[in-house]
Amino acid sequence: MDFSIKTFDAKNTIASIKTGCIAVGVFDNKKLSQAARALDHKGELSAAVKSGDISGKPGSSLLVRHIAGIAAERVLLVGLGKDEAIAEKDFTTAIKATASAFSSLGASDAVVALPLDGVQGRAVEWAVRAAVLAVREGLYRFDSLKSKKDSAPTGVKKVAFAVAAAAAASAKSALSQAVALANGIDLTKDLGNLPGNVCTPTYLANIAKKLAKDYKLGVEILDRKQLQALKMGSFLSVTSGSDEPPKFIVLKHMGGKAKDAPTVLVGKGITFDSGGISLKGGNGMDEMKYDMCGAGSVLGTLRAIAEMKLKLNVIGVIPTCENMPNGRATKPGDIVTSMSGQTIEVLNTDAEGRLVLCDALTYVERFKPAAVVDVATLTGSCVTSLGHHNSGLFTRHDKAHDALAEELLAAGKASGDTAWRMPIEDAYQEQLKSNFADMANIGGSAGGSITAACFLERYTKKYTWAHLDIAGTAWKSGAAKGATGRPVSLLTTFLINRAQA
Ligand code: BES
Ligand code: MN
Ligand code: ZN
Repeated sequence: MDFSIKTFDAKNTIASIKTGCIAVGVFDNKKLSQAARALDHKGELSAAVKSGDISGKPGSSLLVRHIAGIAAERVLLVGLGKDEAIAEKDFTTAIKATASAFSSLGASDAVVALPLDGVQGRAVEWAVRAAVLAVREGLYRFDSLKSKKDSAPTGVKKVAFAVAAAAAASAKSALSQAVALANGIDLTKDLGNLPGNVCTPTYLANIAKKLAKDYKLGVEILDRKQLQALKMGSFLSVTSGSDEPPKFIVLKHMGGKAKDAPTVLVGKGITFDSGGISLKGGNGMDEMKYDMCGAGSVLGTLRAIAEMKLKLNVIGVIPTCENMPNGRATKPGDIVTSMSGQTIEVLNTDAEGRLVLCDALTYVERFKPAAVVDVATLTGSCVTSLGHHNSGLFTRHDKAHDALAEELLAAGKASGDTAWRMPIEDAYQEQLKSNFADMANIGGSAGGSITAACFLERYTKKYTWAHLDIAGTAWKSGAAKGATGRPVSLLTTFLINRAQA
């Protein structure tokens, strides 16, 4: 899809825009939006609304052809809901309906002349981004492994957004940012959807190398020998039952000032989680190919900000391996020594995410980070707590961490990729007590997502840190099974805001 910005003013009017189709709004009180009124010379659009063919409810739409006195071949009336201040949700619904109508048109180009400046509490930039993401979401296909491809998308191939001349510059930069974000989201989805026999740790490392080459990023891939030298005994204990070699990926986008402390993203990269010796049940086990979605979202976010040339130092760190059972696999009761020196009794080999992350969290101390955010499909318990709507956000409860939590929550709200804050408290820490090592890797079934976060907290004392549990948000199950690309929008928005601070 090709996106652009089209400006209009008193001379270049909405009515004079030549296009296959122009989308304009109608409210549920039957009032036409400003652009719609500009096309309604002879009252055709008002008549269409009056006829009852379109309700004005968000998601409704009506195609009208052959309107006298305008340059566009078709007009798509799109319902926007309540008059005046359009609710965010209604705008998103309307833009989805617009994208879906465009996809089945005989026209190859279209113009969106919805009131992009009319969304309650949001600027034109927000509306442009929401629109681009909705269109790209509708276009996404994952059929690279099907011998017969899904039918190619038909309809509109070029979409222009009509904005007033005064808003053109900011709309243009919002548009290129939105396209970069959509590209990052698509990469994250692709990596998630790829099966474990294709998307191996080596495959992820190659993707990182490719990104480094395409966008001039710094990249370093550490292999097993180097991980041994670093004494990452916890990470390595997860890889011991697998034939796939582990990789530790470091990808650097140094877009800020050389002396500025980097923001570090750490992504869990288990390319298949069988549970190890604590083997999972067979039901839905295929979905554990998605256990690298934290890693995928870090790569997608780096792709997005690199394409944007974001003026911020960002480092992505990905510990990646498989979690498999074999004769050399870690056994329940085994005790391992992490890079931090703390010892861990592995009571359940299926609680492997925290074992790979804790060594990565120790490794990143060397960057003297401004903040560290780890992203992980960490616990089924988080899905029980928050369902599929919010990612779980965990940080310590002090001033610096509350500020970081606020930044992340706000970025989630602004991008529609929301998170919900959960507690980290000493009372939960006690559940990790081990009789034989410094800590156990599980804390019992009560508050499982919280004790998992408490485990990670013990490895993050030297910097400001937050943890995102994306087990419920990174992919969908059932008939719509597929990666969502979350939380790339949240993370990218968070970083864009940091670059502007
Ligand atoms: N990758 C899983 C978490 C998961 C499970 C995400 C199901 C999404 C859906 C993680 O490695 C895991 O197995 N966690 C265990 C921890 C338990 C053994 C303490 C879990 O959540 O059951
Ligand atoms: Mn597991
Ligand atoms: Zn896992």
